[in-house]
Amino acid sequence: MTPKAPIAAIAPALSFPADFVWGVATSSFQIEGAAALDGKGPSIWDHFCRVPGAIADGSNGDLACDHVHRWAGDLDIVQRLGVDAYRFSVSWPRVQPTGSGAWNTAGLDFYERLVDGLLERGVAPYLTLNHWDLPQALQDQGGWANRDTVHRFVDYARGMAARLGDRVASITTHNEPWVVAVLGHETGIFAPGIQDRGQAMQAAHHLLLSHGLALQALRADGCASALGIVLNLSPVQPASPTPADIDQARLEDGRLVRWYMDPLFHGRYPQDIVDFLGADAPQVASGDMAIIAQTMDFLGVNYYTRAVVSAQGPWDAHQSGLELTDMGWEVYPEGLTELLLRLHRDYAVPPLFVTENGGAFKDRLEDGRIHDAGRTAYIASHIAAVGEALRQGVPMAGYMVWSLLDNFEWASGYEKRFGIVHVDYPTQQRTLKDSAQWYREFLLQQRALRAARSALPARV
Ligand code: FCB
Repeated sequence: MTPKAPIAAIAPALSFPADFVWGVATSSFQIEGAAALDGKGPSIWDHFCRVPGAIADGSNGDLACDHVHRWAGDLDIVQRLGVDAYRFSVSWPRVQPTGSGAWNTAGLDFYERLVDGLLERGVAPYLTLNHWDLPQALQDQGGWANRDTVHRFVDYARGMAARLGDRVASITTHNEPWVVAVLGHETGIFAPGIQDRGQAMQAAHHLLLSHGLALQALRADGCASALGIVLNLSPVQPASPTPADIDQARLEDGRLVRWYMDPLFHGRYPQDIVDFLGADAPQVASGDMAIIAQTMDFLGVNYYTRAVVSAQGPWDAHQSGLELTDMGWEVYPEGLTELLLRLHRDYAVPPLFVTENGGAFKDRLEDGRIHDAGRTAYIASHIAAVGEALRQGVPMAGYMVWSLLDNFEWASGYEKRFGIVHVDYPTQQRTLKDSAQWYREFLLQQRALRAARSALPARV
């Protein structure tokens, strides 16, 4: 199935509010490079990339998109796209090399320049504190499975907010705690590469606890930025209507969605999953759950595809007949509307942002152009899905494309390209793909609509 998209197809969903935030997103380890420059300490991803076989193409983040040196040109591109916001993350070991104690001035200065550079270009900075690159020195003491890391994170959060909180629109504590916990500590396909369900669930608990404590601390410090967390969520559907598949889907929904949403919004873990985990359930100290359930200013949702589960084992996405991206993920925009409606129905959610959405496709550079119609269609159809959620009453506040640039896609290395801007790694040349041109035109159209609407006489 080839989705049709461009602007005409999303016209019915164009009634985005005037203050809706349009953006693009990146993360530190995936683009920065400069892995050991100016006092930066090693992160768990620097280490993990050295494990033979861990990264599909044997690559690492040493150079990546060389963004530490090319940030000004990259921000010019961001400005040219006409977005309202740029979501980026801070590399904790760049600013605090061992994760505690001494701060690294050169690292802090880099983020100062980045934030000021965004403001000079009229783009709001959306900062994420933890997009997975934990200082290796903290991993050496047990990492996220060690409760002490919670307190190290709160100190780091306070330090960054003291430095940048007067200029960043928003601070996200963690990006996708499920990934850190499950892919990092249970399946071990991501850093730190541990395979232990008990440690995974303990890490998940500590991530949530550190989120809650950081929010309390930043608010007590008078931080004016909007505060929240970003979760990777999908609707989970049974492969068939058999009771076994339905049970499996409920379990998976519990582990992916409710394990994070229930504590954040209801102050408790889902009992069916606690029972399922048995001895692998995390140690929870008295008072932890109330700390986790801090009121948030926003919730970020990263959406790529739905999850289909079967009691028979892994489900083969080729069965559905839907288009697949280069990650092998189904293109399923309806799932985004379904997910957003469900979050709004089951939880008292604050304003919601889609903080990541996009697709990896096999791009071909032809005469200096990349005609990535598949990516454009993907983005357009998911924007329409957000528009539909808005129409049905979900408090949507923004949408951000993943990603600004092609970059280091974790265990897939540089083989998968998510950027709307192409990066030629040997020369580091950037080229706007057709999808970037499309997004730019779409945003111009949005702006024109906003202007036209505000010129209308007020309704009486
Ligand atoms: C998300 C990550 C992001 C990127 C996309 C494709 O899980 O947050 O860094 O890798 O997937």
